[in-house]
Amino acid sequence: MNVLAIGDIVGQPGRRAVAAWLPQLKEEYEIEFCFANAENASGGLGLDEKGANELLDAGLDALTLGNHAFAKKQMLTLLADEWPVLRPVNGPVSWPGAPYLILNKRVPIALINLCGRVFMDALDDPFQAIEPVVEAIRARGVKCILLDFHAEASAEKVAMGHFLKDRVTAVLGTHTHVQTADERILGMGTAYLTDLGMTGPYESVIGMNIESSLVRFAKRLPSRYETAAGPFMLQGAVISVDPLSGQATSICRVSLKEEPA
Ligand SMILES: [Fe+2]
Ligand SMILES: [Fe+2]
Repeated sequence: MNVLAIGDIVGQPGRRAVAAWLPQLKEEYEIEFCFANAENASGGLGLDEKGANELLDAGLDALTLGNHAFAKKQMLTLLADEWPVLRPVNGPVSWPGAPYLILNKRVPIALINLCGRVFMDALDDPFQAIEPVVEAIRARGVKCILLDFHAEASAEKVAMGHFLKDRVTAVLGTHTHVQTADERILGMGTAYLTDLGMTGPYESVIGMNIESSLVRFAKRLPSRYETAAGPFMLQGAVISVDPLSGQATSICRVSLKEEPA
């Protein structure tokens, strides 16, 4: 069984990239289940109902969030419904939404979203938070467990991979918007990648307009975050999973770029 995980979708260019390439990726890799991190999919910050429905209609089975989970306030009410959109599990108890999702009919697949806390607004300790969640899922007999670990620091993500080695099917990093080249199988069958990369405009600073980013970094002056325009890319990874054991057998990066007009 093959699953596709897609790195942070940024704004309308990211949503267009999904619509343009997801059908052919699903066919080419015989994808049974696919999800994407979508916390920047609406206007570059947060996710709204329209953006989420557009992505689900395009063929994604589920969407994960991250440190900007509630940047669009309507997510506070939307997450209460039966909806395949997932916020980080290590947030405060006041956060709405399920701690994890179990999806896919033929082979149940559990999906978890978890936030790191190095160089970002700290939620609960991700290492302490994740253990009871994984145990609860395994106790339900679900063997295929996918984790989107939304974190800034590579070391925190690599450590999480080793921490969950042979306890989950895949530990897939998101949030930096820069795809790493360290895909591997940890232990007997945990697929690992420090960052899935970005699905959005590639003539950009991690999806944002280059000029406005330079005002902020080079001039140290305030400027609005604006999603960049121009050609888009789609990045992620395909993970092959033994449906009986839930062990990953391979992980292969995906990176597609639109030709400049
Ligand atoms: Fe992001
Ligand atoms: Fe993020």
